[in-house]
Amino acid sequence: ASQSALKHFLDLDTFDRAELRQILDLGKRCKAGELGSERPLAGKSLAMIFEKPSTRTRVSFEVGIRQLGGEPIVLEPSGSQLGRGETVADTARVLSRYVDAIMIRTTKEEKLLELAEFATVPVINGLTDRTHPCQLMADVMTFEERLGPIEGKTVVWSGDGNNMATSWIHAAARFGFELRLACPAALSPPPEVVAWGQQEGARILVTDDARSAMKDADCVVTDTWVSMGDDVGDSIRRHNLLKPFQVTEELMALAKQEAIFMHCLPAHREQEVTTRVIDGPQSVVWDEAENRMHAQKGILLWCLN
Ligand code: CP
Ligand code: NVA
Repeated sequence: ASQSALKHFLDLDTFDRAELRQILDLGKRCKAGELGSERPLAGKSLAMIFEKPSTRTRVSFEVGIRQLGGEPIVLEPSGSQLGRGETVADTARVLSRYVDAIMIRTTKEEKLLELAEFATVPVINGLTDRTHPCQLMADVMTFEERLGPIEGKTVVWSGDGNNMATSWIHAAARFGFELRLACPAALSPPPEVVAWGQQEGARILVTDDARSAMKDADCVVTDTWVSMGDDVGDSIRRHNLLKPFQVTEELMALAKQEAIFMHCLPAHREQEVTTRVIDGPQSVVWDEAENRMHAQKGILLWCLN
């Protein structure tokens, strides 16, 4: 296959709305059991490279590809030559001779792009320091199961302007919802990503006032205050900056009465969200985690068929 014909799943901003809808529909059909006992990926293998820890991404991809008839192979830096300095480009060339697709969770986005440049099979982004697109596919699926079409709705992000926040901006532009990012000024999402979203016609607002951002919100989202790519030595400063953005029952009460709470997990109770909110009636976090698997089955089918 020529490079340009490869169906990589790198980031939501590289897709148009119709393509993302097509992938989500495939995921929904998998969840609804509409594929029956078919094994559409029989004989196909997925290599999964983890340069950072994972629970959901690893298990949901492993189980997901098996349910579709394919086989996962997990590579961790400690057990592969990547960890001893073999280049990403050489790893891409070699793995492409064995497997049908490669998922990577890594640090710098450049490594994802290098993998995609040198692989001759589709590459899937399983999180980088910059983005987490698989999670957003599951999140949009979860939102729509609860509240109907996300287009025209309002989502509030309260917390760190991190990789998840960037993917939410991409999603706002592609799926057509309003996104308000309530973040401390020092931890705002990258301005060029906000500008990109606005140029694409998305309604994106960045504020440091979480309370006023909540008005008429359909969904409130947050994430850890210290991501895997962050300097742990900076944790105390981050906690101090982010404390006013903690999602509490009081904050949730300022959103719509039927608003849902989302979190990609892993969560830290009494830090970015209170126990009462994440374990309360508005929280949809377990559906969100489950939907990782269904959404990624859609991604795998799209990449490999
Ligand atoms: N949400 C998510 O990606 O979780 P893991 O880090 O456990 O894969
Ligand atoms: N922002 C978090 C997401 C974890 C799924 C991180 O990158 O660690």
